Amino acid sequence: MNSSASTNPISSPLGSAAAASAAAILAGSLSRVAHAAGSDILKIGLVGCGGRGTADLVNCAKSSPGVQVWALGDLFKDRVDGLYPRLKAMKDLEGDRFQVTPERCFSGWDNAKKVIENVDLVLLTEPPGFRPLHMREAIQAGKHVFAEKPVAVDPAGVRHVIETAKMAVEKGLAIVAGTQTRHQASAVETIKRVHDGAIGDLRLGQCYFLTGELWYHQPKPEWSEMENQCRNWYYYTWLSGDHIVEQHVHQHDLMNWAFQATPVKCVGTGGRQTRTDPKWGNIWDHFAIEYEYPGGVRVISLCRQANGTAQRVDTVLVGSKGVAFPANGKITGEKAWSYEKEVPDPSVQEHADLIASIRAGKPINDGRRIAETSMTSVLGRMAAYTGREISFKWGIESSKLNLLPPKLEFGPNPVDPVAMPGVTPLVRDGEADPNPPRPRQPKQPKKAAEAKK
Ligand SMILES: NC(=O)c1ccc[n+]([C@@H]2O[C@H](COP(=O)([O-])OP(=O)(O)OC[C@H]3O[C@@H](n4cnc5c(N)ncnc54)[C@H](O)[C@@H]3O)[C@@H](O)[C@H]2O)c1
Repeated sequence: MNSSASTNPISSPLGSAAAASAAAILAGSLSRVAHAAGSDILKIGLVGCGGRGTADLVNCAKSSPGVQVWALGDLFKDRVDGLYPRLKAMKDLEGDRFQVTPERCFSGWDNAKKVIENVDLVLLTEPPGFRPLHMREAIQAGKHVFAEKPVAVDPAGVRHVIETAKMAVEKGLAIVAGTQTRHQASAVETIKRVHDGAIGDLRLGQCYFLTGELWYHQPKPEWSEMENQCRNWYYYTWLSGDHIVEQHVHQHDLMNWAFQATPVKCVGTGGRQTRTDPKWGNIWDHFAIEYEYPGGVRVISLCRQANGTAQRVDTVLVGSKGVAFPANGKITGEKAWSYEKEVPDPSVQEHADLIASIRAGKPINDGRRIAETSMTSVLGRMAAYTGREISFKWGIESSKLNLLPPKLEFGPNPVDPVAMPGVTPLVRDGEADPNPPRPRQPKQPKKAAEAKK
């Protein structure tokens, strides 16, 4: 296994330094962008050889003509070695679509860098905690990006992605996020109608991601703490953001889309009742958040991962004249309507749209939008973990929360304890508290005369 370590560049202050380095690399990279836009063949590569990565790679390759799979990368060699023969035998990749050779299969901490070097478009489907770093590496190298959701797990990562998105605009590079509902014809039409007033004024939003438990990889004695965390990444907040960020981000994105805004603030609760064993890392198993959008409109957001419980994945928009169900393409009320045409698979369509935009020289850039959406989910988690009401403005502009370890290397990697509302701090390292909780006033003893009454 390649054990070369890398350090956490997100821990250095962002802003001017990042902008300066962006400007410095601008000139050299424009020619490569032009080549990718003008070429008939678009070489793609995968970082993160897991379930969604496999699906994204195949969907991307079959979405448009002239797309060739060129390189594969994963932190772990066994993951790349396991995927390579499967892809090679896949019907969807027949003909000249699969061009990977063993020399273009990469593992270790620098796998993303090596994949990026070899392709025009990189698909980032590794754990979200790494995504801000890999997005930056790709854009700095002048490559287009497809980034699975979420793109960050903390405010420092969100700001890093926003800087990267600006760099991508300057360099004419695409960033498309794996929020496929944005490419689902029925949802697009429903939201358009909502914006056009089909349900009147938005009065309430409801969103749910209520499911069962997911997978677990039994640790091997030779795995270090860091290796176990990266293989069981879902259960560590620094890698997944917790399930409110990793899964429920889809519905938060729909809410921001419908409201054409990010929330103003939120308050929330939650905990872990079923996944209490330390093997489940430090994430929770349920959250309930109330987001407040501009104009005081509330959105209720519930998510849970527990077996034997009710399942619901849905988004509902309640207006003064009707109710909209964007995921189902349906509106009830005064202007009742439903989407009757066939809906092309949005998980293929998102890649077709991305590639068409690159070839047209008008690259889609979802970077800022998906960073803000990721922040929406992160804000909900921060509010629930700490028990505090938090404003979006403070979260995205000022919170210094940065969960990425200072060094990425195999070995020990102690993580935060399971969060406890009222105990887990909102601010760290001498940061100013935006809204310190008021200390409880001790009860005044009643006056003797009053007490006699
Ligand atoms: N859009 C959707 O509907 C959808 C659906 C499922 C998953 N996803 C997203 O896709 C991403 C991957 O999820 P998944 O279900 O495929 O997970 P997975 O565990 O199946 O795959 C993740 C892979 O990343 C690898 N990895 C870990 N650290 C890495 C690193 N530093 N560099 C490269 N690879 C690394 C792991 O070894 C693993 O092979 C997540 O962000 C998830 O939220 C999106």
